[in-house]
Amino acid sequence: MRRRFHEIQPGSFAFTAGNLAWAQRQMGKYPEGRQASAVIPLLMRAQEQEGWLSRPAVEYVADMLSIPHIRAYEVATFYYMFQLHPVGSVAHLQICGTTTCMICGAEELIEICRRKIAPHPHMLSADGKFSWEEVECLGACCNAPMAQIGKDYYEDLTPDSLAGIIDGFAGGTVPRPGSQNGRFSCEPASGATTLRESESGRPADNAAVALALLQGDTVARIEG
Ligand code: FES
Repeated sequence: MRRRFHEIQPGSFAFTAGNLAWAQRQMGKYPEGRQASAVIPLLMRAQEQEGWLSRPAVEYVADMLSIPHIRAYEVATFYYMFQLHPVGSVAHLQICGTTTCMICGAEELIEICRRKIAPHPHMLSADGKFSWEEVECLGACCNAPMAQIGKDYYEDLTPDSLAGIIDGFAGGTVPRPGSQNGRFSCEPASGATTLRESESGRPADNAAVALALLQGDTVARIEG
């Protein structure tokens, strides 16, 4: 897929004071002369601040790292984790459309996105709150079909559960991430058949879900 910067760009970009201090700490992790190695964390922080990566943001990061702009463009346009178009102000949904998720219903999930958000990927919803795209395997195939929303995974989705999650975000809540059909993690849908002794006394949520609930930053922007 061709990945280009959005045709409408802001005039400038700058890290907030907090994010600038964070970025400088990241650069300090590398030996003198190797600061370019911080390009991915800095680009990601710029995206987390604004929601997407504008051309001025990419150039700002390149200038911080003293590398030619083209080297930062190469990174930003290669990885689809970097959003080169504005995303919804509340949430951007990444629906996995690769084999396992497709077999298990990803196309129905995409239909929900078309209906509730916008007819095309990378298009903002009418109220500007949501956007969506189809992505390649996100590595949670055992819990297909699934989607990444903000920083967290929503798994074992159905069209109804995804619609409810979108409604939840629209209503100002952050729906609980993780499996949506009651599975603890990625054990068989019919229940674990081995290592069952670990089931007694375990917490209600697996570690990833517990951390997401603790952090509470599923769709939060990082303003520093
Ligand atoms: S195929 Fe969807 S997470 Fe792997």
